[in-house]
Amino acid sequence: MRKYKIFAIVCLLALWATMTFTNSPASIAQAQNQDPEFTELRSIEQKLSSTSARQNTIPPIKKKKMLAWLKAGLYKDLFTAEPNVHGSTGPHGGNVRTYYNPILTENLRQGKKTWDVGAAMVKELYLSSATQVSGYSVMIKVEEQSGSDGSGWIYFESFSGSADNAFYGKGIQICANCHRAGVDFLLATFRP
Ligand code: HEC
Repeated sequence: MRKYKIFAIVCLLALWATMTFTNSPASIAQAQNQDPEFTELRSIEQKLSSTSARQNTIPPIKKKKMLAWLKAGLYKDLFTAEPNVHGSTGPHGGNVRTYYNPILTENLRQGKKTWDVGAAMVKELYLSSATQVSGYSVMIKVEEQSGSDGSGWIYFESFSGSADNAFYGKGIQICANCHRAGVDFLLATFRP
């Protein structure tokens, strides 16, 4: 019996030591700070937060926050919606409806052909339904220049509405290669 007690205490100590010395929040934060992608996202966040329209009109750029924001549905009130759900002419899975954020809406109304930093589109993916949203595509312009490789944009697409298996990143080539043919990467023909 005593042996088991000692064994249990040793196990607990080992567990405590592992938790204390390996994955402490400080060491995780430090690792993230050194991750170039993390640093870049943070500096993009800072740049966007100085944009006066930041409040809910530019989707959060981090994947999980973005998804939570999408599901909260605020874009429906703040963005300009295409009049109808319609079949996608691209590889976007059946029926879609695109929304432009106020920055993009304003740029389009002014007749511009390139968009300001913070311009964003949200596309609801309905798949074969006409009423039930299953997933989302999102693009956010995060640099003055889109660049011929589309590296000035953050791209996101999830067909299932889950962050797992989502396409996500800055300058994703699979998205940019096709969107490059649009007006400053905008392919939808709806104009507010
Ligand atoms: C083969 C071409 C093609 C590829 C690849 C593609 N798209 Fe699209 N996308 C389209 C077309 C065409 C539209 C216009 C609306 C429609 O018909 O669905 C569109 C529309 C969109 C929109 C609405 C704004 C706009 O430009 O019209 C978003 C957001 C979007 N796509 C995101 C993405 C993301 C993210 C990826 C990569 C995971 C991607 N797209 C890959 C063709 C493509």
